[in-house]
Amino acid sequence: MSGFSEDMPFFDEPNARPAAPSGIAARAMAARSAQNRAADYLSGLNPEQRLAVETTEGPVLVLAGAGTGKTRVLTTRIAHILATGRAYPSQILAVTFTNKAAREMKQRIGILIGDENVEGMPWLGTFHSIGVKLLRRHAELAGLKSDFTILDTDDVVRLIKQLIQAENLDDKRWPAKQFAQMIDNWKNKGLGPDEIPEGDARSFGNGKGRQLYKAYQERLQTLNTCDFGDLLYHPIRIFRAIRTC
Ligand SMILES: Nc1ncnc2c1ncn2[C@@H]1O[C@H](COP(=O)(O)OP(=O)(O)OP(=O)(O)O)[C@@H](O)[C@H]1O
Ligand SMILES: [Mg+2]
Repeated sequence: MSGFSEDMPFFDEPNARPAAPSGIAARAMAARSAQNRAADYLSGLNPEQRLAVETTEGPVLVLAGAGTGKTRVLTTRIAHILATGRAYPSQILAVTFTNKAAREMKQRIGILIGDENVEGMPWLGTFHSIGVKLLRRHAELAGLKSDFTILDTDDVVRLIKQLIQAENLDDKRWPAKQFAQMIDNWKNKGLGPDEIPEGDARSFGNGKGRQLYKAYQERLQTLNTCDFGDLLYHPIRIFRAIRTC
């Protein structure tokens, strides 16, 4: 992949591209070198990987076993989309589960198209880091201010314990930690206090599950803060609301 990054002008503004060489020989040489560059990143793929990389319209699902080349498909597909001018780096959303996977993706795309172009990809990261970034920009859509804080698990449990006690419930019988887990599960499904199943709501705090969840969300909003679940929950709700507008 040597020389790939310097040779690829597609990530800059269109008018930043170097002028095309003139003359038949120059154009033929340019065409050949463009083919070589394309071969650079496509040549290491098997036919199935290549099909997935070159299918740029519509959704593509790659289902394959461990260590069989899924990440290679993803990183090469992003490089291909950028190299063929289909998108700018800032228009690519690439979401991973772990920080390790995000780092690996960044590094591998960097090898294909140059580190400087990966730096221009603000939307490559974990669910949570993308969620935070999105929320900082659109905090008002979640009833927050853009300088909201993020609570750690201990803070969450402490806050829930206060709410349980405020309802005159026995926090030994109704452990805050258990309720924190329940809230997280609801949030991962994008369910707000009014949408959780009645059975779930009744199963905690002498039937006060829904009320407690509602009080918890209100308290977070008053404190201008989020828990980890909110970093997924708020963006999901923002996207849903926009889709149905
Ligand atoms: N077509 C290929 N030919 C040769 N080597 C390949 C090919 N595709 C992937 N590899 C290599 O195989 C190894 C595993 O690839 P990759 O990391 O993309 O797989 P993965 O399916 O994402 O793995 P994991 O399940 O661990 O996430 C890497 O070293 C990669 O460079
Ligand atoms: Mg992988």
